Amino acid sequence: MTTASLASPSTKPVVLATPDQLRERIRQKSKLKGRQADDISRAEVVTLIGARPTEGYRRDLLIENLHLLNDAYRCLHERHLVALAKEMNIPMAEVYEVATFYHHFEVVKGVKNGEETVDGTSPALTIRVCDGLSCELAGAQDLLKRLPAILGNSDMRVIPAPCLGRCEQAPAVAVHQRTVPYATLESVEKEAKFSVDSVFTAPLATNITAINFITSEYTEKSISPHPDHASARVVPATTAFTDYATYLANGGYALASSIANGNLEAEPIIKAMEDSGLRGLGGAGFPSGRKWRIVREQPAPKLMAVNIDEGEPGTFKDRTYLERDPHRFLEGLLVAAKVVGIDACYIYLRDEYHDCRRLLTAELAKLQANPPAALVGKLPLIELRRGAGAYICGEESAMIESIEGKRGEPRMRPPYIAQVGLFGRPTLEHNFETLYWVRDIVQLGSQWFSSFGRNGRKGLRSFSVSGRVKHPGVKLAPAGINLLELIEEYCGGMLDGHELYAYLPGGASGGIFPASHANIPLDFDTLQPHGGFIGSAAVIVLSQHDTARQAALNMMRFFAHESCGQCTPCRVGTAKAATLMEASVWDNQTLEDLNIVMTDASICGLGQAAPNPVRCVQKYFPHEIGHNTAGAAA
Ligand SMILES: Cc1cc2nc3c(=O)[nH]c(=O)nc-3n(C[C@H](O)[C@H](O)[C@H](O)COP(=O)(O)O)c2cc1C
Ligand code: SF4
Ligand code: FES
Repeated sequence: MTTASLASPSTKPVVLATPDQLRERIRQKSKLKGRQADDISRAEVVTLIGARPTEGYRRDLLIENLHLLNDAYRCLHERHLVALAKEMNIPMAEVYEVATFYHHFEVVKGVKNGEETVDGTSPALTIRVCDGLSCELAGAQDLLKRLPAILGNSDMRVIPAPCLGRCEQAPAVAVHQRTVPYATLESVEKEAKFSVDSVFTAPLATNITAINFITSEYTEKSISPHPDHASARVVPATTAFTDYATYLANGGYALASSIANGNLEAEPIIKAMEDSGLRGLGGAGFPSGRKWRIVREQPAPKLMAVNIDEGEPGTFKDRTYLERDPHRFLEGLLVAAKVVGIDACYIYLRDEYHDCRRLLTAELAKLQANPPAALVGKLPLIELRRGAGAYICGEESAMIESIEGKRGEPRMRPPYIAQVGLFGRPTLEHNFETLYWVRDIVQLGSQWFSSFGRNGRKGLRSFSVSGRVKHPGVKLAPAGINLLELIEEYCGGMLDGHELYAYLPGGASGGIFPASHANIPLDFDTLQPHGGFIGSAAVIVLSQHDTARQAALNMMRFFAHESCGQCTPCRVGTAKAATLMEASVWDNQTLEDLNIVMTDASICGLGQAAPNPVRCVQKYFPHEIGHNTAGAAA
């Protein structure tokens, strides 16, 4: 039967397409699906990310490339994401889902203007006011309330942000990439006006003086200067630090060189790490020497991931050491790499630490360009990666995902990252400070480190102390010191007019304890029986002017904001708990139902630890939440 015989006399004849024409039509149609990369956007992207290497762009550098765009345009225009996807040969959906995961990236959609789509707008300057607990105690909410009236316009916006890692300088504000410590309305306004006209990626200040910072001389002392000291109030990029030349001139890299030369074997070094009792200082407290042995036994190639995400509210120790002595850390990294047999190291630094990034980039470049003789040709690959504003990326497997250029979603375990980690390879992951201690432990001896300690505990702890004390800062104190001793001996006592009421020993996750518990030794394992833990030793001190319930609410809002959303108990539970905790009388039964499901069914430590502050308030501060004090635990 022909087509013509089917047509009625009134029907017009249909011209059938040839198969080639049909194919072309399909090609055209599919080509037009979604937004297409235009030449201008592609050229703009290539200008920033560089010409395509012959082997193609590296997929793992997606977040680095997003940063280049975000820094240049102060936001991510949709057309640039399309162009980046095209250039990097990654599906647009993947680029979009990564870009929208991180708080520091702002995706701005194009706006239809007749036939044309033009760029949407976003404020040129973002002012982030930290609303973490220590900053809240120091007046952050007042700044958040009043700054928009002074600065909020189409060119500037004021938004709350989680802990900026500067709690000893509370309240802290970030004006784009510049920090305003001890922020006031006036100082933020001044910085904002300066920043609008200034070059944002300003090089390191030139007035830095080199010092020889010897950490071991600070044992049982404060690392941070007292706030009444003039140098405590300057922007950290201008503080003095041990640069490469000074570090070398004072015996730096001698240990790494001895190992590289074969003058020092791996075994005695691992033994020293084990004997020192050094445990992971990122919070989990896994014995470091044992971790080295486990990864050492894995098949090559092996990788290292270094955690300088430092997102736990109240924690600022890694930043404090990095600002002063970056090479002590880099030497620890080289020693660990050699002993464990690591081929490549990736250092993940939180985005909030802009000055540290510039400093570390510059000092690492000096080491790589001109290594000590024994290390020439023997340095592992070392890459610095930049976080993008996501607390969850401090969790080790989420950090690995992020280094791979993906959303920072924690992985299910097993397999453990020591076996299957970064890029599928066995991975040694360490907190910055854990590596920072390697040189001193090996050179001064494991005995030196373990000889410190109080109340039956061993070693040194870098406590980040903030809140209602006279001298907040990083205190290098004996492990096992209790809160009363820490405040009296290291912090100059409580602020005038304040009496100790409560404290958080381990940031957001470690629980909240009443003053009656201030004699518990502060160390790994000592707080668990009471419903908390020391974690990264972020101690926040509250007084009679504060409430534990407000502190717990602050923390729960933080968890809700930072939950990666991968598992329902955590995603929904943290948000629901925060709402319930706003009531003057807490619904303890419903909160406990949420606590149980979050603890039992969350994939990672964020969801598992989120109930700690809630349970502590229920247990130790029932009078604050409308419940009978008779049940309060001693
Ligand atoms: C939610 C969450 C956030 C974390 N954030 C950090 C962090 O910011 N820095 C860090 O070193 N470890 C952090 N950790 C701990 C890491 O998962 C990991 O235990 C640590 O980096 C291992 O290094 P270490 O053995 O030297 O401590 C976090 C853990 C969880 C569950
Ligand atoms: S517990 Fe929370 S943060 Fe962790 S994986 Fe689940 S949703 Fe993400
Ligand atoms: S910097 Fe604000 S709470 Fe840490």
